[in-house]
Amino acid sequence: MTDRMMIKQWRKRNKRCMKSNKYFESFKSNTHKGFIKRDFCNDEFLDLMHNPDRTFSQPAVSIIKDSHTTSSCVMPIKIGGRKVEVHIKRYNYQNIFYALKNLFRTSRGKRVWKVAHRLISRNIPTPLPISFLEQRKGRFLIKSFFITQKIDQSLPLHTLLQESFLNAQIETIKNKNVLIQQTARLIRAMHDRGVWHGDLKSANILVEKKDGQEDKLYLVDLDSTRIKTRLERKDKIGDLARLNVSLLNTRIVSTPDRLRFLKYYLNVSKKRDIRVRDYWKEAVLKTQKKLRKSGRKFIT
Ligand SMILES: Nc1ncnc2c1ncn2[C@@H]1O[C@H](COP(=O)(O)OP(=O)(O)O)[C@@H](O)[C@H]1O
Ligand SMILES: [Mg+2]
Repeated sequence: MTDRMMIKQWRKRNKRCMKSNKYFESFKSNTHKGFIKRDFCNDEFLDLMHNPDRTFSQPAVSIIKDSHTTSSCVMPIKIGGRKVEVHIKRYNYQNIFYALKNLFRTSRGKRVWKVAHRLISRNIPTPLPISFLEQRKGRFLIKSFFITQKIDQSLPLHTLLQESFLNAQIETIKNKNVLIQQTARLIRAMHDRGVWHGDLKSANILVEKKDGQEDKLYLVDLDSTRIKTRLERKDKIGDLARLNVSLLNTRIVSTPDRLRFLKYYLNVSKKRDIRVRDYWKEAVLKTQKKLRKSGRKFIT
């Protein structure tokens, strides 16, 4: 397909997740409004949609995070006779300024819902979006929610890299190289298709590990993600530097590993390619700049 045709198709698909149709269903209660992926629309899930806060205190639920700004939990549900787990992220009410700021703004939950679908139409892997909800009093935003299907048997990228470092056998080193290559290819595809992640840390890349299957990577935490027709170089460097900041330890990811990453990211045949060198210089500069605020340094 030509670029123009592809962009036209992406635009058409973008609207689909905000309409009731074959794939989605709108949801409205006295307090909450949102959309649900149609095949998740059963009594149990609708009950969750009516009382999303109550979910956080149910015994079967495991709480992952509970901070001032966001809370998240994992909950088992039954869909079409099949047991699945859903990951619920709640954007909490902060203060009156938060409510005022969001008077005419799209809630986080809704924004992330739309962004996740735009990633999916671009074939960029992210956990399956199931629903979003927003709770307003009049126009005042109280909270919003974003629900995805939990990726079973998955670990964040940094945990896996750490493990490969700790048992440095030939086999795990090979796995580490494969992981670096897969990550680089994923980020290249994402940038090529106009997606700037905005919070690209190793904790926001999930690796699904299933026996007998190739590892699969997913991007999560799309709160700051922006989608453009074409990314500028500084956007790309921004994402790369942030990822670098999240993996500073060169005993876990060595400098040659990082250069290899750039080789795959830029799709060139040699680590010594001039483009690798240019990107490396810029990404290191940007990394140092980011670290200066916290008094840290990146030593290559
Ligand atoms: N669909 C999912 N399946 C499995 N794990 C997930 C899923 N979504 C998020 N997580 C895990 O939860 C963590 C926190 O989620 P994230 O959206 O990154 O929120 P935060 O803003 O708290 O960083 C992620 O780093 C990831 O490990
Ligand atoms: Mg995160």
